Amino acid sequence: SAPDLALTVNGRPVRVNAAPATPLLYVLRNDLGLVGAKFGCGQGLCGACTVLVDDQALRSCDVPLWAVAGKSVTTVEGLAGDGPPHPLQQAFVHEQAAQCGYCTAGMIMSAAALLKRQPRPARADIVQALERNLCRCGTHPRIVRAIERAAA
Ligand code: FES
Repeated sequence: SAPDLALTVNGRPVRVNAAPATPLLYVLRNDLGLVGAKFGCGQGLCGACTVLVDDQALRSCDVPLWAVAGKSVTTVEGLAGDGPPHPLQQAFVHEQAAQCGYCTAGMIMSAAALLKRQPRPARADIVQALERNLCRCGTHPRIVRAIERAAA
């Protein structure tokens, strides 16, 4: 069988025994029970599966397990650590920035990556950062407001 692959997920070291080409999304959801990242398109197009890999927003459906060996993966479950909800999570609740909610985790993780590299983004930066995160409910205006609130 394939050797175990070591990585860090939400600050904890984990070892995964799966084929190296397995999409990270499947490992997170099926092997590690972290179901915050969602399967939308499975082709890197919708952003529902977005997680942080070493602070960069990546589409986990499009990242093979081998590519994250030794790296640090953060999912929406780990964004706040053991503390209270992350400011982005609080702002999404406050602005009611979800309708069906399927895109929410991916939106929050894309926004988290943006705020890490740019703590006070302009509205245009927020819109650009979310350009490839799709929301079928049309909730983008509230999502942008929530990110502005979290960054304020
Ligand atoms: Fe990964 Fe759509 S499920 S981008």
